[in-house]
Amino acid sequence: MNRLGILISGRGSNFEAIADAVANGSIAAEIVVVIANRPEARGLDAARQRGLNAISIPSKGLDREVYDHMLLEELHKQQVDLVCLAGFMRLLSGSFIRQFPNRILNIHPSLLPAFPGLDAQHQALEHGVKITGCTVHFVDEHLDAGPILLQAAVPVLDDDTVESLSARILREEHRIYPEAIRIVLSGRYATEGRRVIFS
Ligand code: GRF
Repeated sequence: MNRLGILISGRGSNFEAIADAVANGSIAAEIVVVIANRPEARGLDAARQRGLNAISIPSKGLDREVYDHMLLEELHKQQVDLVCLAGFMRLLSGSFIRQFPNRILNIHPSLLPAFPGLDAQHQALEHGVKITGCTVHFVDEHLDAGPILLQAAVPVLDDDTVESLSARILREEHRIYPEAIRIVLSGRYATEGRRVIFS
């Protein structure tokens, strides 16, 4: 059975979408640990209510390498084989990423490479794009930059606010993240340069 480790910083709704897919059997895996870098992350409570192993490893004030080493220790202890970043608001070091080659996924609320970084929905509104969306990608050492697994498009409406647009994007996030995890766990894909080809 595949062993998932989920990293969160806040609300944890993507974590919950993944947990639902695991619970209903559409992802053949076990969530062996949920780790938050902020002790107040709401997702931790949601994970505990589901009876999952949910722990807080606060990152505040710690050097990246020191913190990532703490994370790695926990993930290895739990024998995690796929790491899912779900609203995890930290960049990971190269030494962390090299421990999980092509085994770290992230979700981002824009059609990358447009609008990487913080407040992607706000960036989309400011720029005036008519279509935005979300992206699940492999994580490399650069911010929101690794090979793309899945994307979903979401139209921007004239009366959208950051909140209304974020809510519609989030619905798509909850659909494509579990789907991307299924694809990765199935192994039915190949990477050609930056392109991820499904087989
Ligand atoms: C999502 O919009 C995700 O794409 C971004 O951060 C947000 C996290 O939301 N990386 P949640 O914690 O999963 O509810």
